[in-house]
Amino acid sequence: MNKVILITGASSGFGQVIAEKLSKSGNTVYGTSRNPEKYPEPKNYKLLKFDITSFKESKKLVEKIVSENERIDVLINNAGIGFTGPIEEILIKDIKRVFDTNYFGHIDIVQSVLPIMRKNKSGLIINITSIAGYQGIPFGSIYSASKASMEYLGEALNMELNKFRIRVVNIAPGDYKTNIIYNRNDTNLSKNSPYYNVYKDCIDQWSLNMSRSRNPIEVANLVEKVIKSKNPKIHYIIGPFLQKISVFLKKILPEKIYQRLLMNHYKL
Ligand SMILES: NC(=O)c1ccc[n+]([C@@H]2O[C@H](COP(=O)([O-])OP(=O)(O)OC[C@H]3O[C@@H](n4cnc5c(N)ncnc54)[C@H](OP(=O)(O)O)[C@@H]3O)[C@@H](O)[C@H]2O)c1
Repeated sequence: MNKVILITGASSGFGQVIAEKLSKSGNTVYGTSRNPEKYPEPKNYKLLKFDITSFKESKKLVEKIVSENERIDVLINNAGIGFTGPIEEILIKDIKRVFDTNYFGHIDIVQSVLPIMRKNKSGLIINITSIAGYQGIPFGSIYSASKASMEYLGEALNMELNKFRIRVVNIAPGDYKTNIIYNRNDTNLSKNSPYYNVYKDCIDQWSLNMSRSRNPIEVANLVEKVIKSKNPKIHYIIGPFLQKISVFLKKILPEKIYQRLLMNHYKL
């Protein structure tokens, strides 16, 4: 493979592992970080300064890559943040920040990349969504909603771009051991909050599960497989068996039974 690949959020977690893997396979890889100076310079790829929520930088970022390579073959929309909180107590400004990062920022970069992909009549856009985007997760509602929004965006975009020979693929991972738990934004609740205990137990359990979760190389392997595939699917789901099966169960179980299972799981 010798593709020109742009990955947002390559300083950590999935993005970093994907960037390392794809650059070692012979691709020209550009990753991004808000603060690349904080990290050791990667050996095989470039880490460019970019904040996906700035809505000003994406055109310049794309122009730089195109001036060096004349094309961008693959865009991997990966940058993202975790966020939790009971809906009643979440601040609207925090919701906007999550959506700016996990949704609007990706639309902005897609809009900047598409003219060059259309000109070249080829391209692949991979959205790193989440199994959380397939269901409303208690105390994870805003994150779930941002990821569900990316799922629908990807589906629609794939059809809009079909005639330009540009494919869009959504990869929805379950829990993987990245830095997302440390970078996650949790809502501060007062001890008097009616949600305090149940919310605290829930996020403590999440953090524990995430710290024991799987190796992100699995997702990097899947990304490479998708890039190599002549005819990739639109959706991929990857992760622990129980999380993958939950997507299927939601389709076949009566909805109240499915919610009861989720509530038991989250001890609500
Ligand atoms: N880990 C999981 O279990 C899991 C499961 C499903 C989906 N995901 C999704 O996978 C993606 C990667 O997450 P991760 O788990 O690898 O987490 P991570 O280790 O915290 O990495 C997040 C990456 O996003 C970048 N980022 C965050 N805010 C940004 C902004 N405003 N502008 C540009 N870049 C920004 C960070 O770069 P800087 O901080 O250097 O800017 C970092 O490189 C996210 O979209 C996440 O929702 C993760």
